[in-house]
Amino acid sequence: MNYRHAFHAGNFADVMKHALLVRIIAYLQRKETPLRVIDTHAGIGLYDLAGDESGRTGEWVDGIGRIDEALTPDAEVLLAPYRKVIADVRARHGETAYPGSPAIIREILRRQDRGVFVELHPADYKVLSDAFNEVTNLKVLHLDGWTALHALIPPKEKRGLVLIDPPYEKPNELERLGDELLAAVKKWPTGVYAGWYPIKALAPVDAVAARLHAECPRPGLRLELLVDDPRDATRLNGSGLFVINPPWSLREEAETLLPALAERLSRGAYGGYRCEAFGPSA
Ligand SMILES: C[S@@+](CC[C@H](N)C(=O)[O-])C[C@H]1O[C@@H](n2cnc3c(N)ncnc32)[C@H](O)[C@@H]1O
Repeated sequence: MNYRHAFHAGNFADVMKHALLVRIIAYLQRKETPLRVIDTHAGIGLYDLAGDESGRTGEWVDGIGRIDEALTPDAEVLLAPYRKVIADVRARHGETAYPGSPAIIREILRRQDRGVFVELHPADYKVLSDAFNEVTNLKVLHLDGWTALHALIPPKEKRGLVLIDPPYEKPNELERLGDELLAAVKKWPTGVYAGWYPIKALAPVDAVAARLHAECPRPGLRLELLVDDPRDATRLNGSGLFVINPPWSLREEAETLLPALAERLSRGAYGGYRCEAFGPSA
């Protein structure tokens, strides 16, 4: 387990993933009934962009560092809850703090909601557990996220979101994401699932998307942000999310948010996005 999210915190992929994560939870919270958010690959929850790891890659500079200035007015409306989370976290932890998914989820969960965070790396688990396990509606588990996913669904609330954000250290993790999403949706058909993936080349992503389109019994969205041309597969060109059972509003929101992010976060002349439906209704 070599992957350390501290090197990448706040990069363009985090901005895309976290902004959409907040949109999905905000939608689920339109109802008062409790919900559960399960984060299968949680990380440490809070990062210091002035720290050694962030400083060595500087990735955040071309991510969160580029959205200090407002995007289009329509995109700003959708980005507002994400910006509020960041502002609240900075107010509490300092101007160079950046929240990982557990801190974002913690920030927006209501008293009646529950958050479960799974992290396998012993040191990361310890950091997260020390910060989160004393809060009664949050739980941090030291487990393999893939195994935990199936053990934790369906949750007793019967409503909620599963975020799957693996490190992609192993060559087959993208195919595995497709397999595990299909298995999970069989076990809990009404849960909302958001599975993140990196985009170097498009062909491997297309293959998993085709499989989800053919086999997923529930509606889904393939949402992508490209900051560079994916014909050069030697680098990270984009960031994607497969969302199963998306809120009905998510496609329209992504159609507003992603082009604005692509325009701002593009590294050169190339910037692009995709909002494509898959599954039965596509
Ligand atoms: C991409 S990072 C997570 C970032 C986090 N979700 C966020 O948005 O802030 C992936 C995390 O998964 C952890 N990890 C790696 N293999 C794992 C496994 N099998 N089960 C659970 N966590 C794992 C890594 O230690 C790392 O912290």
